Amino acid sequence: MKTLVLYSSHDGQTKAIASSIASTLSETLECDVMDLALSMDINLANYQSVVIGASVRYGHFQRSLYKFTKQNVAQLNTMPSAFFAVNLTARKPEKRTPQTNAYTRKFLLATPWQPKQCAVFAGALRYPRYGWLDKAMIKLIMKMTGGETDTSKEVEYTDWQDVTRFAKDFVRLSSSAAR
Ligand SMILES: Cc1cc2nc3c(=O)[nH]c(=O)nc-3n(C[C@H](O)[C@H](O)[C@H](O)COP(=O)(O)O)c2cc1C
Repeated sequence: MKTLVLYSSHDGQTKAIASSIASTLSETLECDVMDLALSMDINLANYQSVVIGASVRYGHFQRSLYKFTKQNVAQLNTMPSAFFAVNLTARKPEKRTPQTNAYTRKFLLATPWQPKQCAVFAGALRYPRYGWLDKAMIKLIMKMTGGETDTSKEVEYTDWQDVTRFAKDFVRLSSSAAR
């Protein structure tokens, strides 16, 4: 039986985090990585455990997260499962836990899915890759919250050691459930 890592990513950071998690998991577990947007045909019965990650844009996770977790809640709640959120609010350490990160707290309160492990990772700010409107909006938000406002910059805030720790914890969770 395998572990499935699902991600929803607009600009690639959540995908990169999902790949890093999958790479750590595959040292011990057999593992598939998939885009949540392409996950309509997934049969979770083929997997022993699942990790789902999603990023925030304008205050919300992508619709595919809500849809997939709603459609598969019964199965998700019977297997070891983990959720990780990615956003820029989490660049501030005090907003980097499931309880202190507003988007994550809100999602976990609203969803009937009960992931056994949760984390929040800081994402990346990549001004040169954004269209003019997104660039202007993000610059405004960064100005209001004391962040980077130089639009020539790309800044990665993700703590990769934290990502590896999360993956190793999930290996333990998944392996103990399989015993
Ligand atoms: C258009 C846009 C809107 C965003 N909105 C938010 C937001 O509301 N709150 C937040 O904390 N981060 C926000 N972010 C930051 C993203 O969550 C961050 O860049 C993350 O790394 C994106 O992950 P992805 O590349 O997997 O999509 C936004 C980024 C963009 C480009």
